[in-house]
Order: sequence, then C-alpha cells, then structure tokens
Amino acid sequence: MRILVTGGAGFIGSNFIRYVLSHHPDWRIANLDKLTYAGNLENLRDVEQCPEYEFARGDIADYSTVNALFEKRPFDVIVNFAAESHVDRSILDSTPFIDTNIKGTQVLLDIAKRYGISKFIQVSTDEVYGSLCEKDPPFTEDSPLRPNSPYAASKTSSDLLVRAYHITFGVPTVITRCSNNYGPYQFPEKLIPLMISNALEDRPLPVYGDGQNIRDWIHVDDHCRAIELAILKGISGEIYNIGAGCEIKNLDLVKAVLRVLGKPESLIKFVPDRLGHDRRYAIDARKIERELNWKPKYRLFEVLPDIIEWYEKNESWWRRVKTGEYMAYYEKVYGS
Ligand code: NAD
Ligand code: DAU
Repeated sequence: MRILVTGGAGFIGSNFIRYVLSHHPDWRIANLDKLTYAGNLENLRDVEQCPEYEFARGDIADYSTVNALFEKRPFDVIVNFAAESHVDRSILDSTPFIDTNIKGTQVLLDIAKRYGISKFIQVSTDEVYGSLCEKDPPFTEDSPLRPNSPYAASKTSSDLLVRAYHITFGVPTVITRCSNNYGPYQFPEKLIPLMISNALEDRPLPVYGDGQNIRDWIHVDDHCRAIELAILKGISGEIYNIGAGCEIKNLDLVKAVLRVLGKPESLIKFVPDRLGHDRRYAIDARKIERELNWKPKYRLFEVLPDIIEWYEKNESWWRRVKTGEYMAYYEKVYGS
C-alpha cells in the first residue's frame, strides 16, 4: 500500500507516520508538508532514514506540486492531515485557513479523482458541529454542521467538498471527526503542552474566560488507530466520529497539570475569553466502535502524568519549538 500523508510533520501526522511504520512494514509512506510554523521534521527524526518513508516539502494547495508526486508513482491512499489547525490563529487571520483547509483539500480531491485512488481519508474535527450546552447529548455523525470559528468553518467547508466529490465523481472518501488530541510532539500553542511548558518555566498559565469550557480528550495513538481502521475498513462515503469519552473543564485540567508537577495554582492567570469560544465538545463514537471495531485504549485521567513526563524529558524539543529554532534543523538537513 502506498500512502500519501499530507501534513505529516505536524503533531498528529508525525504520530501517525511513526505508528504506521511500526505496525505495517509493507506500507510505503510519502509525507507532503509545507513546513509552516507547525511543521517540524524533528518530530520524525527517528524514522527519517526508514526506506519505507520519504519526505517532500510542498503545498497541498499547489496542484502542480501534488501532481508531480503522483506522476512519479501513483498512491493508493491519501490521508489529509495538512491544515492550519489553531482556532486562535484563525481569529487573528483566516486567510491561510481558507488557502490550505479549503483550497488545499480541493486540489487533493481533484488529484484523487484524476488518478483514481482507492481511499481518500479526510482528517476532520468535531468543531464542525459547533458547541454543546452541558446537558446536550454528545455529537453524532448526524448532528447539524454549525461551525463557530473561522477554523471550524474552513474544516466544515472542506468536509462538504469531500462529500461533493464522493457524490458527484465517486471519489472513495471517508471523513473522520475527532475530538481534542493530546500526546507527544503537540505544538505548544495548544492547551495541554502550553500549560505543561509554561508551568515548567514558572510562567503564568493563561485560562480563557471562566475556565468552565469543556473539551473531550483523546490520546493521539487512539486517533491514529482509528485512522488506520478507516483506511482498512472504512466504508466509502461514510463519516466516523472519534472520541474517548474523557470530558473535562479546562480549569480542572489545568489544575491537574499543576498538581502532577507540584506547582502552585497561583500560576493560573484568567485572561479575556476567546471570541466565539465554543462551550463544550463531546463525541458519540458508537458508530466507529460498532462498525470498525475501534475502542480507545487510553484515558486522559490515567495517562496525564506520562504525557507530562514526555514534555519534561523533551524540554529541548519544546524550547526549540517555542523559539522557532527548529527551522534550523530543516535547513541543516535539507538545505534552505
Ligand atoms: P498541526 O498544526 O500540528 O500540523 C499541521 C501540519 O500541516 C504541519 O506539519 C504543517 O506544516 C502542515 N501544513 C499546513 N499547511 C500546509 C499546506 N498548505 N500544505 C502542506 N502541509 C501543510 O495540526 P494537528 O494538530 O496535527 O492536526 C492535524 C489534522 O487533524 C488537521 O487537519 C486538524 O484539523 C485535524 N484535527 C486535529 C485535532 C487536534 O486536537 N489537534 C483534533 C481533530 C482533528
Ligand atoms: O476539538 C478538536 C479541535 O481541538 C481541533 O480541531 C483543533 O485543531 C485543536 O486545536 C483543538 O481545538 P481547541 O480550540 O479546542 O484547542 P485548544 O488547545 O486551542 O484549546 C482547548 C481549550 O482550552 C479551549 O476551550 C480554549 C482553552 N484555552 C486554550 C489555550 C491555548 C485556554 O483556556 N488557554 C489557552 O492558552
């Protein structure tokens, strides 16, 4: 199986590549990544010499770049992780979100249509469903699409393009919609690595609004196994929600991080709320459990100390990421 992974130098993509290389020695992976601020080849340093793996720097929104990869050799599967992924950045400037998340997905779909691939996996998000109140039931695949941030709107738009290419052209698509991920190599702008790294530096931990917003957390490895199953067994045209049933209020999570690290709660700093801040996400994952036989292995409350330990042990990684120094690594290895 030849797989084109896009955005494989980011958080989830790099974990997925490592997972596939260790579980499927007969699969071949090409990683197409633009290396934006969030793409970091250090995340893949341990696998970059694998003969089954290759890297290409490029933009998914550039048709000729993606076409050139397919001209060299066809792929069976595209797994599209590439995206602008941070809600706060989309509030500051939505332009790259439109370019990559919408235009980029359209280019990949056109390529999939042209070369007749056997599966197109669109890695999407629960944010397309909008926000829940505390007593609402979790999102199902049939929940209405009600994106609230420019990020969520761009991901919803790409999901709708994926649907349209399936219905109009018969492209064999699968959309996965996952909740909030945690794990190694997560860019320290996202809640968990930001809080861990700030606490380790004795810097303030910024909590938006009243800190009562709820997120539903899943270990990145559980997400990767779900995508593996979507490749192997996902039904063309279907959507699968992915979530581990671990809801927690932001403030409780931040306090748990401080407790594990033995740091004082006085480090918490309440800051103005995110504009349009979604109150609660919660995923009903019964469809993927029932139809693809997927089950989460991890629970945030049990593995949080291990995750914190990873960031403690890999302090030089997140320090370089926080200062942007990781680009020097790319230039050393691949030239500018
Ligand atoms: P990330 O920001 O860590 O990584 C994104 C990667 O995409 C980076 O390597 C970046 O360089 C690359 N990229 C960006 N624009 C590109 C372009 N135009 N062409 C090629 N590469 C480009 O993101 P992540 O957290 O790993 O998320 C990966 C995917 O999973 C995204 O599609 C996101 O919407 C989705 N998702 C994320 C979460 C989460 O909790 N992080 C949850 C559900 C879904
Ligand atoms: O639900 C899936 C989504 O999860 C993915 O699609 C996105 O790519 C991913 O970034 C994530 O979005 P969130 O906005 O939920 O994640 P973030 O880590 O930015 O924020 C989590 C919660 O913590 C949210 O309620 C905002 C809050 N927060 C975040 C940061 C960065 C704070 O209170 N303080 C902060 O400094």
